[in-house]
Amino acid sequence: MNYRVIGRTGIQVSQLCFGTMSFGSYADEAASRAMFARCREAGINFFDCANSYAGSRAESILGACIDEAGCRDEIVLVTKVCRPMRDGVNGRGLSRHHIMREVEQSLRRLRTDRIDFYFMHHYDPLTPVEASLRAFDDLQRQGKILYPAVSNWAAWRIAKALGISERNAWARFELVQPMYNLVKRQAEVELFPLAQSEQLGAIVYSPLASGLLTGLYGVDRRPAQGRLNEARYQARYAGRAPYEVADAFTAFCRARGFAPPALAVAWAMSHPAVTAPIVGAETVEQLDGYLAAFDIPMDAALREEVGALSDAPDGGVERTVD
Ligand SMILES: NC(=O)c1ccc[n+]([C@@H]2O[C@H](COP(=O)([O-])OP(=O)(O)OC[C@H]3O[C@@H](n4cnc5c(N)ncnc54)[C@H](OP(=O)(O)O)[C@@H]3O)[C@@H](O)[C@H]2O)c1
Repeated sequence: MNYRVIGRTGIQVSQLCFGTMSFGSYADEAASRAMFARCREAGINFFDCANSYAGSRAESILGACIDEAGCRDEIVLVTKVCRPMRDGVNGRGLSRHHIMREVEQSLRRLRTDRIDFYFMHHYDPLTPVEASLRAFDDLQRQGKILYPAVSNWAAWRIAKALGISERNAWARFELVQPMYNLVKRQAEVELFPLAQSEQLGAIVYSPLASGLLTGLYGVDRRPAQGRLNEARYQARYAGRAPYEVADAFTAFCRARGFAPPALAVAWAMSHPAVTAPIVGAETVEQLDGYLAAFDIPMDAALREEVGALSDAPDGGVERTVD
């Protein structure tokens, strides 16, 4: 396993982060435990979770796995807050009220006294950023979290938050978590340059585009089973274009002898701003498919060839002087 330092924290993590969104949902407890054991055997020390995954069962299963293996000090543990957790107007979001309640619940389920990177899972338009940052700073001072982190926010908003943290001498975001794969490349335009400029770690989710880049999908190929059949994933990869990319990617893999899941992960991993991709699996076999990413001879030339299979995102408004 390769290990990378997260931004300016000095914390070393495996170059694959294992995402536990499937724990207690797509994977039952036995399958989840088997994947956790395989991760540890392969040297993975980095686990992503969220309070909302599988109605909190993911945190409970992950907490039990870590506790029973007695390996808490070897693990870099990530979880998140923001998504709706209970009925009532205050059962969601990034208010101090919700954050302070939820961090205690997460610590209890994860059977630990600290969360290494605590993520704001989404943007909450009802809470001023200052209120959420101040709550996270308090949690850091209390030792309940080591570092604040942020997912699914626009780069300009993160940049603004970094300025607010600096002005107030509050703990700043040290890690970002955008979606990134061959079909969804928007992070290349603003977010990755921000991460590189400010020395933020970056872990990227959905490297397989929710299954689209497994080699099973194409314009005329839509398996009956699989997550992409669910309405919210169909909406995310709507229209013909993503399936054309999937066809081109599958043909490229076939011609060059690469397994599609391994190449998709190796490609996401190869962006210089990326600390680690977050892989999601339902079985040990799928997890082994990701570990094969380390056998792919990914270099700048191969990265460019794979990148040419989809349209690079438009560069935005900035123009450099001639
Ligand atoms: N911050 C956020 O908002 C956010 C959002 C999403 C995810 N995440 C994190 O990122 C992790 C990964 O996300 P993701 O699950 O969306 O990743 P993904 O890379 O887009 O999709 C993984 C899915 O691809 C399919 N797959 C994997 N290997 C396969 C193989 N060899 N053959 C066939 N199908 C295969 C499986 O689904 P099927 O078998 O059902 O097709 C698997 O669940 C999550 O666990 C979570 O920790 C974070």
